[in-house]
Amino acid sequence: MSQTQKSIAVLTSGGDAPGMNAAVRAVVRAGINKGMKVYGVYRGYNGLLNGDVEEMNLRSVSDIIGNGGTMLYTARSEEYATPAGIQRAADFCRSIGVSGVVVIGGDGSFRGARCLTNAGINCIGVPGTIDNDIACSEYTVGFDTAMNTAIQMVDRIRDTAQSHDRCSVVEVMGRNAGYIALNAGIACGATYIITKEEPFTVNDVIAKIIEGQKSGKHHFIVIVAEGIGGSEQLAKEIEQATGVESRATILGHVQRGGSPTVQDRVAASQLGYYAVDLLSKGIGNRVVGLQHNEVVDYDIQEALKMKKEFPHDLYKIANEISF
Ligand code: F6P
Repeated sequence: MSQTQKSIAVLTSGGDAPGMNAAVRAVVRAGINKGMKVYGVYRGYNGLLNGDVEEMNLRSVSDIIGNGGTMLYTARSEEYATPAGIQRAADFCRSIGVSGVVVIGGDGSFRGARCLTNAGINCIGVPGTIDNDIACSEYTVGFDTAMNTAIQMVDRIRDTAQSHDRCSVVEVMGRNAGYIALNAGIACGATYIITKEEPFTVNDVIAKIIEGQKSGKHHFIVIVAEGIGGSEQLAKEIEQATGVESRATILGHVQRGGSPTVQDRVAASQLGYYAVDLLSKGIGNRVVGLQHNEVVDYDIQEALKMKKEFPHDLYKIANEISF
């Protein structure tokens, strides 16, 4: 163990995601097993500004692997995102001997991690967001649980849509990304999936519903990605054009909660462990990720510039089997 890596810290930042606790657990346990002191930082970067940290022990993270949310709480800190804030956070880290921080969150959190690294504190980003919108990783912690929650909700909505011969327009989260919409849409047998990544018009949606009516279909599910929005209006337009009574549901934050799935617990454990391994070698300014089930890492700056491919082939399949 190098002297400079004697103490590390872990924080969760941005929107919470199921599996963040599993990642915190992995960081704490891996760090302690490597002989390090590990601090938990409360409420994201705010904890570094307010000195809101606590030294963790092996038992501090007992029984959290199956819990949703984050035991460290989370925040999007405006105060931190200033040169003075970053300097204060770095000074605080030095004052308690912390030379490395694992930051579990999304793109915004990684920008903060890059700044803190530039201020002299090595940071490693772990992708934790339900949106799956981190380009350097095929997978982000929380995505699978969120998709599973979304399909459970849509399955329930389908029951009532079927009973009333209705069309249900269901808006799912994802910020500007359509990954939850695409996968939940396929898994629920949606008639139409609307995402920013695929061109569409309201008339396309209406035409598909009318086509379905002609083949004897009475109820319909349309999945709308959050980045598109306008679900209420779309439901009205569908009703007017097709005569099918329509309702809109915005699933919202229900998708962010709940006990993480196996995939999220395993990914979080792998990524958290690997992040500590990098810090223990004195490496910082990296984002860890999963590619073909292997853990990889990228320079934060490079990772932030990368673009993630949308699986257009999968969208095509969804479209062709949704009549
Ligand atoms: O990034 C996760 C996410 O849940 C997005 O899907 C959504 O756009 C956003 O966070 C909602 O943020 P808030 O919890 O601040 O409303």
